[in-house]
Amino acid sequence: MSINILAIESSCDETSAAVIKDGRIYSNFIANQTVHEQYGGVVPELASRAHQENIVPVVDQALKTAGIATSDLTAIAFTQSPGLIGSLLVGSCFAKAMALALNLPLIAVQHMDAHVMANFIEAPTPAFPFLCLTVSGGHTQIVLCKDYLHMEIIGKTLDDAAGEAFDKSAKLLGLPYPGGPLIDKYAQLGNAHRFKFTEPQIPGLDFSFSGLKTGILYFLQENLQKDPLFIEHHLHDICASIQERIVSILLNKLRKAAQETGVRQIGIAGGVSANSGLRKAILAMGAAQGWQVFIPKFEYCTDNAAMIAITAHYKYLAGEFVGLDVVPSPRT
Ligand code: KG4
Ligand code: ZN
Repeated sequence: MSINILAIESSCDETSAAVIKDGRIYSNFIANQTVHEQYGGVVPELASRAHQENIVPVVDQALKTAGIATSDLTAIAFTQSPGLIGSLLVGSCFAKAMALALNLPLIAVQHMDAHVMANFIEAPTPAFPFLCLTVSGGHTQIVLCKDYLHMEIIGKTLDDAAGEAFDKSAKLLGLPYPGGPLIDKYAQLGNAHRFKFTEPQIPGLDFSFSGLKTGILYFLQENLQKDPLFIEHHLHDICASIQERIVSILLNKLRKAAQETGVRQIGIAGGVSANSGLRKAILAMGAAQGWQVFIPKFEYCTDNAAMIAITAHYKYLAGEFVGLDVVPSPRT
């Protein structure tokens, strides 16, 4: 009998559903919430309401696209943590209700593990041990994966996440939320060496981005005093220089982690792994260091249910199920 899992992701502001059959993704549907743009960040209350509106059509589309009836499903999976609690509640309640109605086992997935697992959706997939730099809007981690289900965080941010560093920098430049993709877009037209932002000196494998944000604030204040149109005149070079610094902070730690662990199967994951500068730079570093580099397809970098589905597939094989009394958690 084949293993057909419906997976639901609702941790932040994307409502997503995917179907995986015997480890292969058959559908991955994502409803983006644009309602937050006008507020400069995700508004939790509005996110929960939008999930409530989106979840039925999104699940329906995922099942239809995969050509699968609910009676063919073998398990239901959902994101249990971390995330916005109101958002997580919508996905978890929906998954529990489906599992109960269809009498199917339930699989709880941790969102950050799932980001790492995005590297295992399509061949070529990494061998173990695998080292993954997970960079999202809420987290920045270096994860040592011993196998599909055993992941150890060996480095993390002490303050802001890499995605926040992008988004907060973009906000200082007057760009709308989420600013990460816009910085990426403008950076491609700019000179990354035009402006220098200092790299924080943090011991070990941990990261810090709050100093960079303050540095950018002072840099802009100083230059705007001299030229009120400084941002407009130099937007591309500023974005390229900010991106260059964020990428170098990330990759210098990743290189250190690779040296310390001796691992050469190296990947990236999470929303910021969609960044073109990071993708290019890790390929160059990988070639210089003799790594085999893995980068998920764009649609598997930002939040999606396919990554929840692939994680659920391996949990299913290991018999890792949860009861209907399971509750979501905002923290890991
Ligand atoms: O993983 P994700 O979709 O959601 C979380 O789990 O947080 O990551 C969202 C983050 C946002 O901060 C967004 O600005 C950033 O990923 N992001 C990017 C790019 N695409 C998304 N940052 C830089 N360059 C991009 N191309
Ligand atoms: Zn995420």
